[in-house]
Amino acid sequence: MAIVLLGPPGSGKGTQAALLCERLGVPHISTGELLRQAVREGSELGRRAQRFMDAGELVPDELVLDLIEQRLGLDDVRHGYILDGYPRNLAQAEALDQVLARVGLPVRCALAIEVDENEIIGRLARRATEEGRSDDSTAVVRNRLKVYSEQTAPVSDYYRQRKLLHTVDGMGSVEAVNERLYRALPDGST
Ligand code: AP5
Repeated sequence: MAIVLLGPPGSGKGTQAALLCERLGVPHISTGELLRQAVREGSELGRRAQRFMDAGELVPDELVLDLIEQRLGLDDVRHGYILDGYPRNLAQAEALDQVLARVGLPVRCALAIEVDENEIIGRLARRATEEGRSDDSTAVVRNRLKVYSEQTAPVSDYYRQRKLLHTVDGMGSVEAVNERLYRALPDGST
């Protein structure tokens, strides 16, 4: 099952993708994590991506597409995967469809997690204190939310038009949200 998880920063994509992957036995592919790993390793890609991430801007499409193409070329995606943080704009959604047509594993379902803005701000402020993620400062979170509404929110329409979109309430406990997401999956995927 090939699933895309959509939602604003702090909506729980990473948390929920990890739990769903465990339940479904498929790999979790997070472009945010792949990029943070590249930054930690000090690779050329990491060096080029870092200033965009620190500012809460999208990393240029061609850099992320390379990363995602490499990851989707590995054997473990053959029985499905969950994509978290990609696609982030319409150009990425179109590029993804082309890559997936080559791999033979088109997106079967896009789950959009919906969370109130106050809850998002609270969650990311807590994480800033507890984990110190560099892009969780108040100013950068504000920009990440702006970038989300301008560039990423339209991606939901892309999947809605293709009748692949399911919206899920992301408020409440991690377990309650996970159950809602699991139940929103199309027949035959669980
Ligand atoms: P990315 O890592 O994808 O960040 P994001 O989308 O901003 O998402 P977050 O990781 O902040 O939130 P999440 O929705 O995954 O929620 P989480 O489960 O972590 O991207 C980071 C940057 O990389 C981007 O800004 C960009 O620069 C770059 N990038 C990445 N992909 C890109 C792409 N495709 N193109 C271009 N650039 C790209 O939860 C958040 C917090 O809330 C956690 O502390 C969690 O414990 C807590 N939490 C989760 N669920 C609940 C709950 N139900 N109740 C209470 N707390 C909860």
